[in-house]
Amino acid sequence: MKRTKVGAIDVGTTKVCTIMGDVDTEGGLRVLGVGIGPSQGLQKGLVVNVNEAKEAIRESIKKAERTAGYKMESAYIGVTGRHISSVNNHGVIAITRGDQLVRPADLRRVLQVARSVKVPSDHKVLHVIPRQYVVDGQEGVKNPVGMHGFRLDVEAHIITAAVTSVQNLTKCIRGLGIEIDDLVMEPLASAEACLSEEERMDGVMIADIGGGTTDIAVLKDDTICHTSVLPVAGHLVTRDISVGLGLSPELAEQMKKKYGNISLNQETSIDADRTLTEDGHAVSYRDLSEIIRIRVEELVRLIMMELPRTDFDKFIPAGLVLTGGSANLPGIAEVAQEIARVPVRVGEPVSLYGVADTLRDPAYATSVGLLLWKLRNQSVHTWVPQSGIRHTLSQVFRIFG
Ligand SMILES: Nc1ncnc2c1ncn2[C@@H]1O[C@H](COP(=O)(O)OP(=O)(O)OP(=O)(O)O)[C@@H](O)[C@H]1O
Ligand SMILES: [Mg+2]
Repeated sequence: MKRTKVGAIDVGTTKVCTIMGDVDTEGGLRVLGVGIGPSQGLQKGLVVNVNEAKEAIRESIKKAERTAGYKMESAYIGVTGRHISSVNNHGVIAITRGDQLVRPADLRRVLQVARSVKVPSDHKVLHVIPRQYVVDGQEGVKNPVGMHGFRLDVEAHIITAAVTSVQNLTKCIRGLGIEIDDLVMEPLASAEACLSEEERMDGVMIADIGGGTTDIAVLKDDTICHTSVLPVAGHLVTRDISVGLGLSPELAEQMKKKYGNISLNQETSIDADRTLTEDGHAVSYRDLSEIIRIRVEELVRLIMMELPRTDFDKFIPAGLVLTGGSANLPGIAEVAQEIARVPVRVGEPVSLYGVADTLRDPAYATSVGLLLWKLRNQSVHTWVPQSGIRHTLSQVFRIFG
């Protein structure tokens, strides 16, 4: 059976993860190489030093290539940062041809209308994701090609990004001789990796809490309703610990990962009053937990404020899914559930076949989602119709290339 190579590079604020694999004609995916290394030259999801970032990406690619035994040629790349914004827009066209049959060219035309939102001069459209089509008033159409009608409407989710921020990243990747298959907004990738069909259908919010950014997506009726990026994540928790307990950032990070636990009802445990000693520094476990919990509570409030509606239980009955490295914090789901008042779970990326053991951690949600991107977006049940992606691709290459 013929196999096509696929690749993904997740350039995060704390780590770079490269995955190489291949896929057969029936969609069977194998992971052949994974390369993970510390990130450099990035702040809050953005490249701030091209040379440093390039070196970190090179290392990660090299590791993956060594395991896979071949050179990486192209990859899907994640994009994040505060410069990304999104809006829902509506487009309408008339089908005036005699047969009044909707053709692929009409989809392109109506999406072109929908994408004409006001964007600052230094920003461009990154994704145009059709949410639903309406043919002569008939709503909820996923793919109108082949239907008859006079009027074609589309509801679309438009994601825009700052050209220079994206170019800094593409420059690093291209400079290493890697072609870019597509640029994917990171929460969309994490959603691909962690959410079930039912959750997407019922209404769900996913928050990928990384080191530099929290990437958010809201999905309902199997379409994307809202996306956003908050510049608050794990690094700020570490900074709070560092300032609050007078520790170096490195030690604060180490303590957070080793002892951080915000599970409720710890008061009764005898461990709550213990003193932690690390590298000659003694800190109170209670103080450490308190500092982390306060920041996490604030972050969950910020996440919930991103919802376009306040009737959370009706709008997102499937609740909130937390992923990203910071979702490894014990007790985070409990605390989030108290604040959000919707069901909360920690989302791990789906397990993949092959040399993929290390990827079974929330920290790799985006990386796995990037690898799945092409696969999922070619299937019939995808929430981003194929035509939308093809359309997006040509846009991306022209603008950000
Ligand atoms: N057990 C843990 N408890 C608390 N935080 C943790 C734990 N394990 C990892 N983290 C935090 O997860 C963060 C890294 O997450 P992740 O790998 O998803 O980030 P990233 O993808 O590099 O960054 P970003 O997506 O923000 O650009 C770090 O801030 C780290 O401290
Ligand atoms: Mg990330």
